[in-house]
Amino acid sequence: MIQPVYDFRSDNVAGVAPELMEALQAANLGTAAPYGDDDYTRAMQRRFSELFERPVTVFPMSTGTGANGVALAALASAYGSVLCHPTAHINVYECGAPELFTGAKLVGVGGGDFKVGEKELAAALASAGFGNPTRVQPFALNLTQPTDFGTLYSLQELRTLSELAHARGLRVHMDGARFANAVAALGCSAAELTWRCGVDLLSLGATKNGALNAEALVVFDEALAARIPYLMKRGGQVLSKARFVSAQLERYFADELWLRRAQAANRNAAGLAERLASLPGVELVAPVQVNMIFLRLPQRALAALRSGPFAFYELGEDIRLVCRDDQEPEGMSRLYDCVRAALGVRS
Ligand SMILES: Cc1ncc(COP(=O)(O)O)c(C=O)c1O
Repeated sequence: MIQPVYDFRSDNVAGVAPELMEALQAANLGTAAPYGDDDYTRAMQRRFSELFERPVTVFPMSTGTGANGVALAALASAYGSVLCHPTAHINVYECGAPELFTGAKLVGVGGGDFKVGEKELAAALASAGFGNPTRVQPFALNLTQPTDFGTLYSLQELRTLSELAHARGLRVHMDGARFANAVAALGCSAAELTWRCGVDLLSLGATKNGALNAEALVVFDEALAARIPYLMKRGGQVLSKARFVSAQLERYFADELWLRRAQAANRNAAGLAERLASLPGVELVAPVQVNMIFLRLPQRALAALRSGPFAFYELGEDIRLVCRDDQEPEGMSRLYDCVRAALGVRS
């Protein structure tokens, strides 16, 4: 018998949500104008404006890296910098794409729980050298929500950080690759999490929550929106068959599908993390606030996990477990039991 592999590598390992597959099939009938000049994209624009409770301009995209690169390029100056947490996705996992798109320097600003801290941001702005031609001039603050370690900025933290940034002329970009997980965890609205907290541009991901390569760049400022079609084209990001991304995004936000899936994924991670953290020697590297768990385990537990039917990523000494909405309960129980048994704890 083939052993099942319980997959905790990423939420990206999931298939496509059936509702979104249906939306794709519906969009597959007949023809539609290319490059986003189609009814699916217009319907998606209206849906996003409802969701965000104000007119917004939305660009359908296929990768989060592309959305981040174009978003930051829309803000960039020729001699600028982007402030972000050192662990931010744009700084670690995008192979320099933000630098390529913007020509800017990324500057790390520390803070606890893998988030840019208020004091740290204030200090970075105070020592940035505004007006000094020997120094790069910060033009944007990137906030990854949730962070790459699955932690969340509170609405108050977002407001405070945005105010500090805006006061020095920076714009605020939110990398929301797991936007639904953040909204689900904070119990707020999409508007509250973004423009009402001072976010100017949002990279919104749906792929990790059941879509087929469907992401969006959401712009809350019309002047910025006007620049984006050029930056997208120059950056190779304009989709000729945009309707297939737009149709998914329209369906994704048409009801509670996006929230239901994210809530289930978050719940799975919370339950598994609680059980694992109760074991002696198991250490959570970051508070578990969405669907990602970062753990440090005693060597014997790690060795047991490696030889079990589990797939997961190791990041140096830590392991990362990411839960999907449809994470198999049996897989979560077996993973817990595997660690428990390796640590000699009786059930
Ligand atoms: C926080 C964050 N931002 C951006 C991305 C980039 O998305 P993509 O892999 O679609 O380029 C990811 C993907 O893992 C992510 O986790």
